[in-house]
Amino acid sequence: MKAILEELNDTQITAELAAIGRLSPVQSAKLNALFAYCMALKAKNLALIKDRGFYIAGAEYNSKQAIDLDGHVPTRLAQADLDLFSMHGVAGPFRLIDDAEARDLERHIEDLAFSRDNPVYSLIAGRDRAEADLLLEERDVILGVNMFMFDTRVRAIFSDPDLLGTVKDLIATDRVTCWRSQIFRQMPDGSRTFYHQNVDFADMSRHPSFSHRSGKRFEPNSALSIWISLSDSTIESGTMSILAGSFVDTRAYDLQKYFLNNIDHMLNAVSFFPPTRIREMLKIFLFSRGGHRGKSKVLMILAQFFYEDLFRGEFTEIPFIAKPGEYYAFTSFNLHGSRPTAPGLRRSTLVGRYVDDHSVDVGENNFILPIKGGGVPVSPTDEGFIAKLSA
Ligand SMILES: [Fe+2]
Repeated sequence: MKAILEELNDTQITAELAAIGRLSPVQSAKLNALFAYCMALKAKNLALIKDRGFYIAGAEYNSKQAIDLDGHVPTRLAQADLDLFSMHGVAGPFRLIDDAEARDLERHIEDLAFSRDNPVYSLIAGRDRAEADLLLEERDVILGVNMFMFDTRVRAIFSDPDLLGTVKDLIATDRVTCWRSQIFRQMPDGSRTFYHQNVDFADMSRHPSFSHRSGKRFEPNSALSIWISLSDSTIESGTMSILAGSFVDTRAYDLQKYFLNNIDHMLNAVSFFPPTRIREMLKIFLFSRGGHRGKSKVLMILAQFFYEDLFRGEFTEIPFIAKPGEYYAFTSFNLHGSRPTAPGLRRSTLVGRYVDDHSVDVGENNFILPIKGGGVPVSPTDEGFIAKLSA
């Protein structure tokens, strides 16, 4: 596998910058102001903090961890599956629904997500009608966030007894909560998702009510993603790949989380880079939509800057090859990303995120819809949604 650092240098953030497009006068003014601030920091940095260790000390390093499944009697998975999972942090593929049902579910999801009947569309339109209409026109996957909260068919998928049995066996717990669902549709437009760790994602997006229960350690498998393929998932269709065993290194995630919670320190770190690069990184932070369209890549560039040996380990790449209706499970600490889709093909995936109910309290499961120029806070209870699925 090509080292992530090399790949990062090869691909840069050109596509992500292009996706932002031309800035409006107001956006340009914002960018110029922040750029001037970083350049001032750059001048001061000569005398100020230029010690990488300062930041490294600030980030809470989760350290190398192992997946321990002892003490739980599995109800669904075989010991061989569990042994592989302990080593790789990934399990599957498993059959959830049949081919025809998967394809029909994909149609159902797209018909609802990309229509004005979608409650998520209404929530965004309530804040910014033009933005909501643009998302609809572009069939943006943000409109597919948390459909399980208001759509019975998607909810049934994430409540499937076999699926829940798998999740419980892999987390080694008797109680889990599904707190988020998402859709991903990859088209042959050259786009891809750079390697990242989800971890509790919720922390990254400042989920208002996600907290670790006191006295409970957050294990590599405390949070799992269930990746359900709704179409043929192949190398050519740009399937996702996971780096087996990469859950042992959480430094990039820890640093990224630290920066997102200490923006001043992040700007200081950004100011270490050459001016052209600073401007590009700020543009991504200010104007790219969604968590994965550039922001995670820029945060990875920052992490690479601080940890030169980051992800130097030899991790085997596992592509998620799947038939429609099959799924994989993986820990949120595992690095993963997707390849571009070949011309004429597409890929469609439904993802559910689960946590160990004994370790993580998702509270009211309030969430934020990330849109251009801010976020729309949503209280599922206030909207009459089913806030979470606990079982
Ligand atoms: Fe991800």
